[in-house]
Amino acid sequence: MTTITAKISKWNPEPEIIMQAAEIIRSGGLVAFPTETVYGLGADALNANAVTKIYAAKGRPSDNPLILHVSNHEQVHSLVYMNDIAEKLIHEFWPAPLTLVLPARDVIPLKTRGGLDTAAIRMPDNPIALALIEASRTPIAAPSANISGRPSPTDFESVYHDMNGRIDMILDGGSTDIGIESTVIDVTNPERILLLRPGGISIESIEAVIDMRLECPDDNSKKRSPGTRYRHYAPSIPVKVWKHNQKFPECEANSTGYMGLHEPECNCAEKIIFDDVKNYTRGLFAGFRKFEREEFSCIVVEWPDDISGTGAGLQDRITRASCE
Ligand code: TXA
Ligand code: MG
Repeated sequence: MTTITAKISKWNPEPEIIMQAAEIIRSGGLVAFPTETVYGLGADALNANAVTKIYAAKGRPSDNPLILHVSNHEQVHSLVYMNDIAEKLIHEFWPAPLTLVLPARDVIPLKTRGGLDTAAIRMPDNPIALALIEASRTPIAAPSANISGRPSPTDFESVYHDMNGRIDMILDGGSTDIGIESTVIDVTNPERILLLRPGGISIESIEAVIDMRLECPDDNSKKRSPGTRYRHYAPSIPVKVWKHNQKFPECEANSTGYMGLHEPECNCAEKIIFDDVKNYTRGLFAGFRKFEREEFSCIVVEWPDDISGTGAGLQDRITRASCE
């Protein structure tokens, strides 16, 4: 398959490019597009055949459900059953890196929701993504636009590397702002809100709005969010974790790439020092892919102690990239 690529302006997405991409979505094809978190691999969420192609292009287990991306509030009501807490969160945050899991209406194919009776929904905070959804006149199902298990793509080059020849079109809207995926919470039961995946929106900002603590899912709910079961976000070379002021991991220094907030005492071939957690989050996946391209034998990342802001999401991605 030949993959069309098109550069597109983030703040003024060219209508003719949006129309071309929307036409592909409407006819059951696949388009990769930028969101504020990472690039998504989109298909018409209400077309089971189109959604099947996403799983094939990514090599993704088909029991792992997808997020439906919407561009307006009315769309949400036609897809899921709402409750007051969900309304409040949507009103307060969207468009935002906040994904809500809610009871699904029948219109969503089982394929899109991995056979579950719930569905995950979010409105992305990126003008290109919103224009594409609007022009497609359908919610867009989109996982991150990487081969399953690899670091999520935060720029066009990473999407191209993983998806060229596998999908119909890639929109090049530059680097994404946040760098890790959305925060996923289960609001099916408004009395107990579950944090399924920490991400782009902080835990403390959600708790402040709902005036409740987020709970961690028990094993049963974990089964309901299959995405949390797999090793993820990992480059093809080993990732080791370093804690500030502790011994630096054993690695071949001259082929080690380091990323973190502090300068370690090592002769690493390359060090990327970020000045805060926000920038570290933004640069993590791109750094993984850069060190991989440079054919290093080891990546060392610093453990971020602070879980505020995107810190909890950053910890989660580091844990999952480094686990065996
Ligand atoms: O920022 C993001 O969320 C990006 C961009 C493209 O929007 N998308 C993304 O999608 O990260 P994906 O497929 O890589 O992750 C979706 C997560 C998975 O962990 C999946 O298991 C969970 O959401 N999920 C989806 N539907 C669910 C449901 N009905 N119940 C529980 N978890 C669900
Ligand atoms: Mg993903």
